[in-house]
Amino acid sequence: MMMDRFFRLGKPFLHAMDAETAHTLTLAALKSGWLPLESSADDPSLKLTLWGRQFTNPVGLAAGFDKNAEVVSPMLKLGFGFVEAGTVTPKAQGGNPKPRVFRHPDSQAVINRMGFPNTGADVFKKNMETFLDVKPRPAGIVGINIGMNKTQTDPAKDYCYLIRALGAYADYFTVNISSPNTPGLRNLQNRENLLPLLAQIMAERKKSCGSEAPPPILVKLSPDIEESQRETIADALVESGIDGIVLTNTTLARPDHLPYPFREQPGGLSGAPLTETATETLKSFYRLTRGKIPLIGVGGISSGADAYSRIRAGASLVQLYSALVFQGPALVKRIKDDLIKSLARDGFTSLSQAIGADHSASLPLAKKVSHGG
Ligand SMILES: Cc1cc2nc3c(=O)[nH]c(=O)nc-3n(C[C@H](O)[C@H](O)[C@H](O)COP(=O)(O)O)c2cc1C
Repeated sequence: MMMDRFFRLGKPFLHAMDAETAHTLTLAALKSGWLPLESSADDPSLKLTLWGRQFTNPVGLAAGFDKNAEVVSPMLKLGFGFVEAGTVTPKAQGGNPKPRVFRHPDSQAVINRMGFPNTGADVFKKNMETFLDVKPRPAGIVGINIGMNKTQTDPAKDYCYLIRALGAYADYFTVNISSPNTPGLRNLQNRENLLPLLAQIMAERKKSCGSEAPPPILVKLSPDIEESQRETIADALVESGIDGIVLTNTTLARPDHLPYPFREQPGGLSGAPLTETATETLKSFYRLTRGKIPLIGVGGISSGADAYSRIRAGASLVQLYSALVFQGPALVKRIKDDLIKSLARDGFTSLSQAIGADHSASLPLAKKVSHGG
């Protein structure tokens, strides 16, 4: 793959720089149009219909890479089945002081404390319009991850504003209430805050997006939710009528093997050290929701084996970000090729048969999510 050669040539330079500067340069290169982006058609066994949307493959770009929806098209062309742009907030904001992103290649880990820097909903909307204006539009689903401004004291106002402003552009919305870098945000995960917030969001969607094919509403959760709280939260999510859960965001935990001084950076940890907790959290929410709500698995996915085991654990779709930093764009095709092999090896003719396969013996009464294709 041509693009992989570019990555291997550029990686020593990019990784010698501050992580955020390297990311800004990567975005500029992707936007420039001179990178050779190509991907072959996806194998039919990777197809999935979810929320009435056709995914040609289940591998998505996680939120945070393309905060302002500037590189949706190139990322879809790289072979992602879907891109989650954002987190976007109503007003532009600068985020926390730099430096605020740190990588540790030996641990395949990233710590970030960005605090939702983004250019705001108006610019986001223009970027989405530009993306949609270019025909033919590359195949793929585009989700919009929404968050509140740091200065907002009534969170529902910001989330509802974004649903109104961006509803026409979203194949789905992810309500981000799990970033560790916006003070108080994660308190929205508590049942007493969660239920009223989601009720207002669902009402706003009904009002401003119509009832024909309104964008599904997903909620993104933290891997740091106490085990004792999970059931209450899962019940609240089912009760609220939301359409999906994204598990997980970054963690404040620091596994023992993570070296000093990297581990002492404040912020959310992602990449390989998150794999186990993110998988365990997803498994637990699949069980608690009895497989009734589609889940997107994210956190430390860096290979086809990781993606496949997340799907067997209950994910209908997967996403990644950190592994892309270390392995480059060829990773997307590698994961898809390995998924095809894993499905065939285990006798599945389509992806939907593998979703939650690890649970089937233990969830005899569960009415599983229905997937087409
Ligand atoms: C630099 C950076 C910025 C991120 N920004 C966001 C964000 O704006 N919104 C969000 O929901 N998640 C954000 N995330 C979290 C990722 O979407 C993902 O949930 C997390 O990194 C775990 O996946 P990974 O291990 O594949 O990176 C960010 C992650 C990183 C590394």
